[in-house]
Amino acid sequence: EEFFASVADKSDDAALRGDYSRADDQYAVQQDWDGYTPEQHERWRRLYQRQLQLVPGRACDEFIAGLTELHAADAIPHLDQASDTLFKATGWQLVAVPGLIPEHSFFEHLAHRRFPITVWLRDESEFDYIVEPDIFHDFFGHVPLLLNPVFADHMQEYGKGGLKAMGLHGLTQLARLYWYTIEFGLINSAQGLRAYGAGILSSGGEIEYCLSSPAPRRIRFEVERVMRTLYKIDSYQETYFVIDSFQQLLNDTTPDFTPLYAKLNSLPALPADSLLPVEINLPAR
Ligand code: PHE
Ligand code: FE
Repeated sequence: EEFFASVADKSDDAALRGDYSRADDQYAVQQDWDGYTPEQHERWRRLYQRQLQLVPGRACDEFIAGLTELHAADAIPHLDQASDTLFKATGWQLVAVPGLIPEHSFFEHLAHRRFPITVWLRDESEFDYIVEPDIFHDFFGHVPLLLNPVFADHMQEYGKGGLKAMGLHGLTQLARLYWYTIEFGLINSAQGLRAYGAGILSSGGEIEYCLSSPAPRRIRFEVERVMRTLYKIDSYQETYFVIDSFQQLLNDTTPDFTPLYAKLNSLPALPADSLLPVEINLPAR
């Protein structure tokens, strides 16, 4: 239910929310934690508590473990403090940014194990639905899994892959991979199907929908299939791709994508609701 492209689909056209005037050449800003109002901290607490009670049995264990370590329930987090916690765990850091940033800077940050976090919090009218990523989505959705070593390594490789894809006409395909994994991915666990994508985990509605609604397709993750598949940015996803482990995600994305981009650029994309004849639509739980 949080529909935005973290790879900055919006950066070219629509005006971006956020104050970019003080950003440095990598789009980093100061968080100005003292500038948040009591109402904003209170809204953060309500967003956090709503998601926290939805997480058990729906989010993967690795996410819950990371979230617990971050101790972010009581107020909008100090990004510097959370960054220290993260650095000690996996060598990642957080960088405060005004909002969506150009893809080159985004990939540069990831490639150096830095995750950009938007500093502003959504308005009350956007409590259930927000079009652009805010600090709640970026922090609650993305940071917990960066405390997991395998996922953290995958995220850095994604950033390096993004820089490489820019010269190979591969960004459209690579953005689909991001969307269907880092934002909207599902994972099989010993206890059953769970969510790991940040767009799901920061959403009050999709976190249940993605697991139990009979409407969307759930298909085994396969890199080439994912890279061919269009996605929805203004509704719940019509398809979710399911991995068996973060190690699978790391392994399957390790091969050189250069020939894949060349091949996929000459193939038509698949609609978001495709189910190919050979594919199995996995059951809702
Ligand atoms: N292996 C990919 C390439 O050669 C890079 C990549 C890694 C992309 C991890 C996404 C995730 O381009
Ligand atoms: Fe995101």
